[in-house]
Amino acid sequence: MNPTDVVAKALKKSQQVVVLTGAGISAESGIPTFRGEEGYWTVGSTVYRPMEMATQEAYSAMPEEVWRWYLHRRKVCRGVGPNAAHRALANLEEGLGDRFTLVTQNVDGLHIQAGNSLQRTYQIHGNIDYMRCAAACSNRIVPIPVPFSGDASFIDSLRCEQCHRPARPHILWFDECYSETLYRFESSIRAAQEAALLVIIGTSAQTNLPNQMVSLCARGGAAIIDINIEDNAFAAVAQQCGVALRGKATLHLPALVETIIAAAKS
Ligand code: OAD
Repeated sequence: MNPTDVVAKALKKSQQVVVLTGAGISAESGIPTFRGEEGYWTVGSTVYRPMEMATQEAYSAMPEEVWRWYLHRRKVCRGVGPNAAHRALANLEEGLGDRFTLVTQNVDGLHIQAGNSLQRTYQIHGNIDYMRCAAACSNRIVPIPVPFSGDASFIDSLRCEQCHRPARPHILWFDECYSETLYRFESSIRAAQEAALLVIIGTSAQTNLPNQMVSLCARGGAAIIDINIEDNAFAAVAQQCGVALRGKATLHLPALVETIIAAAKS
């Protein structure tokens, strides 16, 4: 089926559209992916295996080193801006209003910068511009102060405003679990259960909640469109329940968004 037919058929049933994004949508802005050739988990630090940095265990053992790595990644994120694919999703939210939900694995904040609302954007792996109390005295999420320095005194100044104990990056680590309060877990599951159309962009299908969402959508009869430069497990599902579009997000997404908005109006 072509994308126009997939969208038209799906939106006849219900109008709920869910978009799931991964690092691929920000690759064209200049942010490395995780598992690509130049990806964070592939290249990384010379001292530590990079995936080990993204753990509570690493933070407990060497908070300064972990902070320095996240401040470096934050600097990369803040040095770039949203691209045409991010902007297309902001237009989609404007066109669909409360029939739209965006679930993103990206911590770069580019969807919000492009114009998507915090209310309808579930940042399920956190946001690199924010921090919270490492001792969890509360779930309050606050912006990391500027400047972007990675020096020891700056890192020591990153403290919980309430109990003054050290703060940690607001990022979901590998040895931690999703939650509703911090990462919108149940809201994402509910969105998948109610979706008529799921659009997946630039993810390699390696994480738990996105896998649950795609299974729920497939079982619930939603149409699935996958946009990716290469094959992945979600593309295989999309081929059964919709269509897999091979190519960059900026190539396919702007036209697909126009198709969805037009179908939702008709
Ligand atoms: P990956 O690096 O695993 O996968 C990126 C995907 O984007 C791959 O499937 C690429 O083929 C695709 N891609 C690259 N450039 C693209 C482009 N221009 N247009 C479309 N697709 C493109 O990143 P994620 O799947 O996002 O979690 O990784 C998921 C999570 O694993 C991350 O959020 C991170 C990581 O561990 C945490 O850190 C909690």
